[in-house]
Amino acid sequence: MAIEASESARRREELLDRVRALASGGGRVLIGITGCPGAGKSTVAAWLARSLHSSGTGAVWVPMDGFHLAQAELERLGRAGRKGAIDTFDAAGYRSLLGRIAAERDRVVYAPAFDRRIEEPVAGSIPVPPETAVAVTEGNYLLDPDEPWGEVRRELTEVWYCELDEPIRLARLAARHERFGKSAEATRAWIEAVDEPNARRIRKGRDRADLVFDFDALSIGAGPAA
Ligand SMILES: Nc1ncnc2c1ncn2[C@@H]1O[C@H](COP(=O)(O)OP(=O)(O)OP(=O)(O)O)[C@@H](O)[C@H]1O
Ligand SMILES: [Mg+2]
Repeated sequence: MAIEASESARRREELLDRVRALASGGGRVLIGITGCPGAGKSTVAAWLARSLHSSGTGAVWVPMDGFHLAQAELERLGRAGRKGAIDTFDAAGYRSLLGRIAAERDRVVYAPAFDRRIEEPVAGSIPVPPETAVAVTEGNYLLDPDEPWGEVRRELTEVWYCELDEPIRLARLAARHERFGKSAEATRAWIEAVDEPNARRIRKGRDRADLVFDFDALSIGAGPAA
């Protein structure tokens, strides 16, 4: 459904104002964004951090994807065929990093990034400097009840759920798999065997979110996030 440009702008401003209000107390704010594969989490998180930063609230995007286990470790564990499932992340490492970001404001805290070109996490990629008021993190399992994901949730100030019309989400997800080298057939098989079981698990967290928003209603554009 098409949405007026002025309504999209209003919704974007509402999100920015919500974070600015949380940050006005002076403590460091950690915003989490969750949602199904391909729903737009990374795009929103990158936009949110960029927009806050350019309007005077120091902000950094710290993706949960940096805590993907390395490919060699996934192969050792026999889990390489379901990369992206809940047991293919270093959840405790992620929780620890969020705790450090919340507590350590007198030094730079470094976060890992995930490089989709090599499909590996890369340590020490994202500096979170002392003047950071807001860290925006995003990923699949921020509202999962299984530990240590409950501990992850407790490190976060708020968690938002990013929704997108299903046919559009699936089309964007497939397009991205193909852009990063999968054939159309392999893409279909991967979505059915890996992404959709993950999506069913993620959807169960929707009711626990502090806020639910529609990705396309924000009209952010595809942006720099892959
Ligand atoms: N407005 C848009 N129009 C078309 N494509 C878009 C738009 N916004 C984002 N995309 C594309 O949709 C795909 C999914 O977006 P994004 O990576 O932000 O989702 P995600 O929820 O982080 O996915 P994942 O769970 O797989 O990490 C990306 O390839 C992105 O470039
Ligand atoms: Mg993403």
